Amino acid sequence: MIIAVDGPAAAGKGTLARALARHYNYHFLDTGSLYRMVGFAVLVRGHDPRDEAAALRAAQALKPDLMHEPDLRSEKVGEAASIVAANLKVREALLGFQRDFASRAPGAVLDGRDIGTVVCPDAEAKIFVTASPEVRARRRHAELAERGEVVPFETVLAEIKARDERDRTRAHAPLVPAKDAYVLETSAMTREDALRAAIEFVDGRGK
Ligand code: CDP
Repeated sequence: MIIAVDGPAAAGKGTLARALARHYNYHFLDTGSLYRMVGFAVLVRGHDPRDEAAALRAAQALKPDLMHEPDLRSEKVGEAASIVAANLKVREALLGFQRDFASRAPGAVLDGRDIGTVVCPDAEAKIFVTASPEVRARRRHAELAERGEVVPFETVLAEIKARDERDRTRAHAPLVPAKDAYVLETSAMTREDALRAAIEFVDGRGK
């Protein structure tokens, strides 16, 4: 059983996907962290994330221990991630790992942008989590503040909009709901509401 959770930046995909994995006792993969690891590795080596050869080298030499890098969740790395993620070769380099992970028994929940469309088009349950840019910026702003990153709200909102634009308009694996995805609009929902709705949907798919 594969549960694909996709959606734009700071929509609450990670929180929801993790909670679903816990609920069903499935494996969980935050695929955004793979792109963040590539973005981080490129920046650390002093390269520009737009440098396609440098990004591909970083994707091919990805070290799992980068997963625990405290800076991975910073906005700077998020931006670099979304730039390297537009590179088809980088995406292809990360595909095999994601598909292998998805096939783990008894099931897996993957969250990202293209899980239901490209990585696992045959996933049994696809959820597209979204919320208005303002609500997402508020959530990200609070998340950053918790980590001690003080950024004006307007800056966070502008970055979220820029990242949405880049993710939605890129040529390869753009951010769009899969045709058979359940669209979960969480602007007016608590985390618990969103989890309840998602479980109802997955159970209805015959989990
Ligand atoms: O947490 P947040 O939603 O801000 O971002 P993320 O899920 O950590 O992903 C960071 C960036 O990686 C995104 O802006 C996407 O450009 C890219 N990404 C992707 O292209 N495909 C995925 N399956 C996951 C992330």
